Parts: sequence; C-alpha cells; structure tokens
Amino acid sequence: MPAVTYEHIKTCKQSGARLGKVHTPHGAFETPIFMPVGTLATVKTMSPDELVEMNAQIILSNTYHLWLRPGEDIIEEAGGLHTFMNWDRPILTDSGGFQVFSLSDLRNITEEGVQFRNHLSGEKLFLTPEKSMQIQNALGPDIMMAFDECPPYPAEHAYMKASVERTSRWAERCLEAHGRDDQGLFGIIQGGEYEDLRKQSAEDLTSLDFPGYAIGGLSVGEPKDIMNRVLEETTPFLPHNKPRYLMGVGSADSLIDGAIRGIDMFDCVLPTRIARNGTLMTSSGRLVVRNAKFARDFRPLDENCSCKVCASYSRAYIRHLIKSNETLGLRLCSYHNLHFLLTLMENVRQAIREDRLLDFREEFFESYGFNKA
Ligand code: GUN
Ligand code: ZN
Repeated sequence: MPAVTYEHIKTCKQSGARLGKVHTPHGAFETPIFMPVGTLATVKTMSPDELVEMNAQIILSNTYHLWLRPGEDIIEEAGGLHTFMNWDRPILTDSGGFQVFSLSDLRNITEEGVQFRNHLSGEKLFLTPEKSMQIQNALGPDIMMAFDECPPYPAEHAYMKASVERTSRWAERCLEAHGRDDQGLFGIIQGGEYEDLRKQSAEDLTSLDFPGYAIGGLSVGEPKDIMNRVLEETTPFLPHNKPRYLMGVGSADSLIDGAIRGIDMFDCVLPTRIARNGTLMTSSGRLVVRNAKFARDFRPLDENCSCKVCASYSRAYIRHLIKSNETLGLRLCSYHNLHFLLTLMENVRQAIREDRLLDFREEFFESYGFNKA
C-alpha cells in the first residue's frame, strides 16, 4: 500500500466537486480540506490542543524555514516533526522552492538547483531537489512536496516553458532521491496562465505517477478569473483516484470556487496573518476590529459563529486587546479565523453530500458580500 491514498466518496451532482478522504500514516482527513499553516512547526499563537478542538485535520509546515532554524537534524533527533511539535495528526511540508523565491531577493537558478541568501543571516545557501528530499525525509511529514520553481506573474511564455521543463526534470530527481516509503511525495504542476504549458506540466508529472498532485503558481497576483480558468484547464489531465491540492489559496471565495472545480486540499497563511492585525473573517464579510466603530460594540465577532471566542468575548474587548498589542488578542483572532475556514469547509463537504454546492455558493456569497459590486 502506498503511504498516501485517496478514497473517493462522491461527486456533487450539482457542481462536480469531490467529497473524499485522504489516508496517511497519521490517520485520514476529509476532503475538501483547509490546512492551517505552521511555518516554523507552530501554527502561530495556537497550541495543538486548540487545533484539535477546532478540528484541524492536517497542518502544513515548511522545509525552508525548519532547515534554517532549528535544522532538520535536531527535529530528526527529536523523533520527527510530529513528536517535536506534539501533533499526531497528518502533516504536509512544502519543499522550499516557493519560499526561496518569495523570501530571498538574491537567487540564481541553474539546472542543479537554486542558490540564494539565507533571509536570516545573509549566508549563501544552495537548495536542490535532492537536498529538499533529504530534509523532508528527516522532518518526517506524511506528505512531502516536490522541489519546483514558482515563477512570478506575469511571466513570458518562453521563460515559463523552460521553467516547466526544468520543474519536470527536478520532479524526476525528487522521486529518485525520496528515501522513505512511509511518506507520500506529491508532484507540483506549474505553467502559469498558459493552457498548453499547464497541459504539458500535468502530462509530464502524471507520467511519473505521484500519489497526489498540486497545482502551484497560482494566487501569485493574477485575477481570480484566471485562477479559475487555469483550474478548469488543468484538472482534466489529473487522475480521479489521487488527491488534488491548490497551493497557497485561503480566501473564503477561492476555497468554494476551487472545490467546485474539483480541488481537494488548500493551504494559506491568510487567516492567521490577517488575524494578527485584527482582521476577521465573518459570515457577513471581513471585519476590521481595530476600527473605532467597534469601541462600544459588545456583540461577538460573528453572531453566526459557534467558536469559543464568539461565545465569550466582545468586539469591544478584542479591539482593546489588539490596539494594546496584547498576546491574547492575537490568539483570539487567530482561533476565530481558523475556526471560520474549517467550518466553511465542513459546510462545503455537507453541501457536496447533499448535491447543493452551487446553491451553497450563492447563499454564502450573498451573505459575505461578494455579490455586491
Ligand atoms: N505555495 C504556493 N504556491 C506554491 C508553488 O507554486 N510551489 C510551492 N512549492 N509552494 C507553493
Ligand atoms: Zn468565532
């Protein structure tokens, strides 16, 4: 048995969205799923107990950051990432490719790999497909990602074609270097906004037979209709019996629109990042709790939310905490936002079960304010 397998439960008759389960060595998670991001082996300000309480079923962490600090050798010595951070549910790690491109200004891409500067120390480092596999084998997540290049948007067709071809060669090297059969390695499809290159990338990678496929290079500044079009042009080339992961996407509308296009997994720092400056996701849209208008507002963040923060604390109190830079404010806002997205995905799964995901989208967008101009 491969380490990671997809169990298809049903397809939504109204939308084509998929309901399923992904099985891993640390248990199964239901799909479509949102994965909270714990870049440095912690979902910022949240304890694992709290993540379990809000029913986070899988979390994501980052090869690049853990390699630099504390170093994968220390995590391996601790018994792996699960033991190190006290999380015994599934973990996925990104390969470092994307982080090298987004965090380092000085970098040089060659066939061998990427040379760049450590964003902490300025030291010169070199990351290759083999190195990324070695680090991820040491960290021990259930799902590892291939080392890819995520070019910026927009990029010329000629550049993107060369990049897609290199990413395919890197994917082969990743498979070759991957040394553990209790971890599933996913391939990442690139190709930017170009239909022919997405097809080429998907065909290259599916011929290598990974246990799952990600669609990368999206949510990099392109308009939403381009992202939706690329998803529609890419998924026809993906096998039905493997999970499909849309990387770096975490706004409520894009989660629903991605699920409708057959995506099973999503991750993003958005809910936790905006929480820390006091921006909340609510059933009636975004709420910036720092605003003066909330100074005497003793209602919960979201009157339709069942989370423990909304049961106990007011907008006025949380506004006070955030304005005073109190740690509790960061924690309460992070908890609510993650609970909001995890609940949204539970509702998406229920709507698929009931063959009514397009109706659900309509109702959600109306209430969230997306249908207003
Ligand atoms: N995170 C968001 N987008 C990407 C991508 O294209 N590649 C990788 N490795 N990680 C990502
Ligand atoms: Zn809440």
